[in-house]
Amino acid sequence: MRSPRFPLALFAAASAVTTASAQQPVTFNQHVAPILLRSCAPCHRPGGGAPFSLLTFEDARRRGKTMVRATKARFMPPWHPVEGHGSFVGERRLTAAEIATLERWVADGRPEGPGQPPAAPKFPEGWQLGKPDLVVTMPKAFPVPASGPDIYRNFVVPLNLDRDRWVTAIEVRAGSRQVLHHIIFGIDTQGAARRRDGQDGKPGFDGMDGGAGSRGGNLGTSTAGLGGWAVGGQPQHLPMGLARKLPKGADLILRSHLHPSGKAEFEQTTLGLYFTDTPPAHTMVGLQLPPAFGFAAGIDIPAGAKQFTIRDAFTLPVDASLLTVGGHAHYLCRTMQVKVTPPGGEPRSVFYIDNWAFNWQNRYQYREPVALRRGTKIEVTLTYDNSKDNPANPFDPPRRVRWGLQSTDEMGSVTLLMIARRERDSGRLERAIRSAARSSLRSGVAEHPESLLGSLVSRIKMLDKNGDGKIDQSEIPAGWRRYARRFDTNGDGTLDAAEIEAIGR
Ligand code: HEC
Repeated sequence: MRSPRFPLALFAAASAVTTASAQQPVTFNQHVAPILLRSCAPCHRPGGGAPFSLLTFEDARRRGKTMVRATKARFMPPWHPVEGHGSFVGERRLTAAEIATLERWVADGRPEGPGQPPAAPKFPEGWQLGKPDLVVTMPKAFPVPASGPDIYRNFVVPLNLDRDRWVTAIEVRAGSRQVLHHIIFGIDTQGAARRRDGQDGKPGFDGMDGGAGSRGGNLGTSTAGLGGWAVGGQPQHLPMGLARKLPKGADLILRSHLHPSGKAEFEQTTLGLYFTDTPPAHTMVGLQLPPAFGFAAGIDIPAGAKQFTIRDAFTLPVDASLLTVGGHAHYLCRTMQVKVTPPGGEPRSVFYIDNWAFNWQNRYQYREPVALRRGTKIEVTLTYDNSKDNPANPFDPPRRVRWGLQSTDEMGSVTLLMIARRERDSGRLERAIRSAARSSLRSGVAEHPESLLGSLVSRIKMLDKNGDGKIDQSEIPAGWRRYARRFDTNGDGTLDAAEIEAIGR
């Protein structure tokens, strides 16, 4: 009777090693706390940005079920690039075994267990990257009303630099985490933005041009360098000793996107700048595909469309290395992918998000620069789901959605930051990118002339300062009145919602 049980016991002992045991209960102190402290507490702690803490047994016990739901759905920890499509700094995925451990713990009745949990790591207080070399704050707070359309506003932050500096990182502290959605940084060396600042009685100025004098253009291809910041973004130094020049006397322009939160708030952003005295050995080059956030990519998504696709591609004229990647889109986007195909070779996926989330617009830094040979084709594909099956769809029932500036309109592009392998090739790389962007925009507009109207409608809607759905005389800039009259079909001096929509048809 004894002998047959022997091998069985051995088998049980062997499998216990891999399954963390059928006998031993999963406890907080021994199994759960190490996972939470490492993967959740960086955000789920006081001041960490998440809405509640997950530091203690009591915290975790109360959130047990939602933790299991959020981790199984891979909604938490927020990390969207799919494994196997590029390898990035700071990856924060849970393993299947870790997710199973959380689930087991809740199923076992959430025991605390004997002993003590490991000590919580020391989180950097305040600035994530350490003490900045320069801290600047928007000179005045901007009032954000409780409701109404999204606000795009340019803010001027004087840096008062007495000499040129090289900046390696900018850390953002939102005045109000609820309303600040994202910022794209610009530089103004001409004082043009200062002159427009506050002319309408509020801090900053309107318009998507970001202030004349901020070279590189706002909708252009080169968001190289500082790029921007978005909700959930973790600050990072540029890789490989790269840095962006801030000329003496330059102003920093924040092109901020503010999203009314349901309660009146003020936004007064603070920024920490990190400098280096060593000029970089390489020029950073940005490649945005499709250019201009998909302005001419024909984004016009029928209500109910489950898989609407846009694409663009660029072929490298020189050897280059890919350093970072990040996408931008609004709510309907579902997937983003970058494939690279060397001349005569097979395509390889170097970036893939299969579950895009508007709230987590990150820039991802490759753990090792991705070397790409001259002649390599870089292809970007984005897909959108405008059906009611998309839980992020802002409209129920779904509506036709076009390219535009409101977050309920759509956009879409992926921006890759790279360097030419040989520094002397970087000018050639930049010129090739500019010319590809121009021809992509030109052919896009020729193919989708209606996209221009769509974006015009979106710009007109943004004139609606008081959010009543109509554009009255006082809201129409002087230079636009002549054109506005043409669309005012009932001649009452205002553009109502129906008249605005009619422009885009
Ligand atoms: C990078 C920051 C960050 C990390 C890391 C993180 N969270 Fe979150 N978490 C958030 C934020 C912010 C929210 C609020 C919802 C949102 O903005 O999407 C949230 C929300 C949640 C929620 C509420 C979800 C709901 O349905 O309301 C749960 C549960 C949660 N997190 C669990 C976890 C767990 C468990 C981990 C670790 C395994 C984790 N989070 C890691 C930032 C983070």
